[in-house]
Amino acid sequence: MSKKTILSAAFVMCVLISAGSVSAAEGYPVFDFEQKTVRLNSGYDMPILGLGMFALSDSQAENSTYWALKAGFRLIDTARIYGNETGVGRGLRRAISEGIVTREEVFITTKMWTSDFGNGDAAVDASLSRLGVDYIDLMILHHSQPSNDVQAYQAMERAVAKGKLRSIGLSNFYEPEDFDRLVNQTTIRPALLQNETHPYHQSGVMKDHIARYGTVMESWFPLGGRGNTQTLFNDPTISSIAAAHGKSSAQVIIRWHLQAGNICIPGSSNEQHIIEDHDVWDFELSGEEMAEMTALERDRRFADY
Ligand SMILES: NC(=O)c1ccc[n+]([C@@H]2O[C@H](COP(=O)([O-])OP(=O)(O)OC[C@H]3O[C@@H](n4cnc5c(N)ncnc54)[C@H](OP(=O)(O)O)[C@@H]3O)[C@@H](O)[C@H]2O)c1
Repeated sequence: MSKKTILSAAFVMCVLISAGSVSAAEGYPVFDFEQKTVRLNSGYDMPILGLGMFALSDSQAENSTYWALKAGFRLIDTARIYGNETGVGRGLRRAISEGIVTREEVFITTKMWTSDFGNGDAAVDASLSRLGVDYIDLMILHHSQPSNDVQAYQAMERAVAKGKLRSIGLSNFYEPEDFDRLVNQTTIRPALLQNETHPYHQSGVMKDHIARYGTVMESWFPLGGRGNTQTLFNDPTISSIAAAHGKSSAQVIIRWHLQAGNICIPGSSNEQHIIEDHDVWDFELSGEEMAEMTALERDRRFADY
């Protein structure tokens, strides 16, 4: 492990502990800022910055995936319910055919939708087929659904054993008890929890809780979500930190996620924004700036689900 990685990890732990969100941080996965990855509890390395595909059409998803890979992103986040897995697959193949990436260099996440939970084995196969890949790097259950999410998770466990999925995890579990309900009835520890997380809703309680399983937090709506981004971009604390670094508010928020230990997947259908969102590796928020961002917490979610 490099000196920079150790410093980054110490910094993340320091920030988390000072934010009161992680008591001991014993199991919280360490971000490697040189490799731009984190080692999941499944043993696989996952990029810590990716591009999200929510609300994009199939053809927008194809272009955004291609532009993202061209800009240096190596993680793409889609879902069955977005209706654009096929476009993501096309964008991936376009980038591979142009020699920009190999399949092995790209980390693809998709999500199993709740209405498929009773038929999880088929749902995995259908996502593989729409994406046009032999394996999916990470599949997560899109939402908690106590009536049959354990059944769906067990289908993903079978797919891991068959080599169809590499890592598996959860999304939209907002109570520690709910997370434990599923973990206590299944075998593979969730590699990741994807919840709405941003400076106004920092997910401290869940992050603290999942650390004991070595599960990493991934932020959805990292910029506040479509229609809400100006609220965060124009926040005086965020915009003044941005001005101090000569960066945009979007870049400061993305950098905050990474330094706080959240995998970050901003969504975009705009090539210039995609390039900008990846250009966050040449500056660092100071401890004081991180503390100012932490102080923005107000337990405010932008989504109502
Ligand atoms: N698990 C879940 O239930 C769940 C729910 C929601 C989202 N997600 C995942 O999380 C990802 C991120 O969430 P999101 O896409 O909904 O919201 P978001 O990333 O918080 O915000 C997306 C918005 O930010 C804008 N944007 C991106 N980069 C920008 C930049 N540099 N400057 C100005 N505007 C910028 C985009 O507009 P442009 O298109 O014009 O760039 C879009 O309007 C999704 O794409 C999806 O993969 C998961």
